[in-house]
Amino acid sequence: MIAIFKVDDIEEGSSKGFEVNNVYMFAVKKDEQIYVYWNRCPHLGTPLEWQEDRFLDSDGAFIQCSTHGALFQIRDGNCLAGPCKGKNLQAVPFKIDNGVIMVEKHLINPPVQY
Ligand code: FES
Repeated sequence: MIAIFKVDDIEEGSSKGFEVNNVYMFAVKKDEQIYVYWNRCPHLGTPLEWQEDRFLDSDGAFIQCSTHGALFQIRDGNCLAGPCKGKNLQAVPFKIDNGVIMVEKHLINPPVQY
């Protein structure tokens, strides 16, 4: 596995994008839990963020796609509102080792489920 960044490098209620071998992902810290997803909207497959490291809505309550505003639950990536309602962001397997988030070195993008 490969080290991404420390859990403490993400502030509570915020998000952070990262890339491993041209595979783009992001992590969210919410209620001291870490969630990691592929950075790809299930609507059109576009990257989600508004600006660098900004994947959440203005309240920090949901992940929000910057293209058409779809809202996703942070805890399971399910889309609650927007053009991909009912679909899911795809979770990236990870582990936390000594406070560092680790993902597989050789991840490949999963197929997009439009
Ligand atoms: S591309 Fe994300 S909501 Fe349309």
